[in-house]
Amino acid sequence: MQQLIAPTSELIRTVGQFLGKELGKVNQTEIETKALNSLVSYVDKAAEQQLVEGCSQILPEAGFITEEDTIIDSAEKEWRWIIDPLDGTTNFLHQLPFFSISVALQHHQKTVMGFVYEVNQDELFYAWKGGGAWLNEKAIQVTPTLSMADSLIATGFPYYDFDKTTAYLKMLEQVMKGTRGVRRLGSAALDLAYTACGRFDAYFEYSLAPWDVAAGAFLVQEAGGIVTDFEGETDYIFGRSIMASNPHLAERMLSLLKESGLDV
Ligand code: IPD
Ligand code: CA
Ligand code: CA
Repeated sequence: MQQLIAPTSELIRTVGQFLGKELGKVNQTEIETKALNSLVSYVDKAAEQQLVEGCSQILPEAGFITEEDTIIDSAEKEWRWIIDPLDGTTNFLHQLPFFSISVALQHHQKTVMGFVYEVNQDELFYAWKGGGAWLNEKAIQVTPTLSMADSLIATGFPYYDFDKTTAYLKMLEQVMKGTRGVRRLGSAALDLAYTACGRFDAYFEYSLAPWDVAAGAFLVQEAGGIVTDFEGETDYIFGRSIMASNPHLAERMLSLLKESGLDV
């Protein structure tokens, strides 16, 4: 597993350079709307193509789940890559410097390697099964924060699925009133990577896709944190709700989600 870290890191950094080079170059006519508030440009697509080509060389037998459908690979395979070539497309298109590349590798449907690369600060977060979590050359861990009152929480605001808005706002109110504050960065993969390295104490969001969370959730776990869906169960990659936190705050976060009515 460790042998795959170096070539995959190199590939992701190279594609990251491409993203950095294109920042500010996309014009309005090159932006497509895939669904409500879900944008894409040639940058997402080209980055995905580069990642798929590179990952195919690193592990030829692996399948893929990717956001931009570069490759539709539905056959069950022992290994599969889960890729978001540009997490934070809206930020990228508005020239806000919070966006990332997210790449996870699964073996028999269990994540065994995860990478989140934040291009602007050249921060590569990565982890492999049993190997801990790392930021560039430094080992990382979730925070030791014991109380909600001392915590900083990340979230993502709903932007197309408004069915649970009332419950979501209830949760937001509780978190706003009971913590040091709430941040909405605009890249779920980075929210998770920042939880893994202790910049955030906890994170929650719903209506996400597997490529948003697979790598980042694994980083949090390898950094000593807890990841669940809103019901406290394990369906957070495909189940469209995710809560990640340090081990001390997980129970409180889950009870707040329940009290808000977000756990259904
Ligand atoms: C989005 C980002 C954002 C989250 C959205 C995702 P994209 O991914 O992760 O933070 O709130 O739900 O869809 O579309 O920029 O790859
Ligand atoms: Ca995404
Ligand atoms: Ca994306």
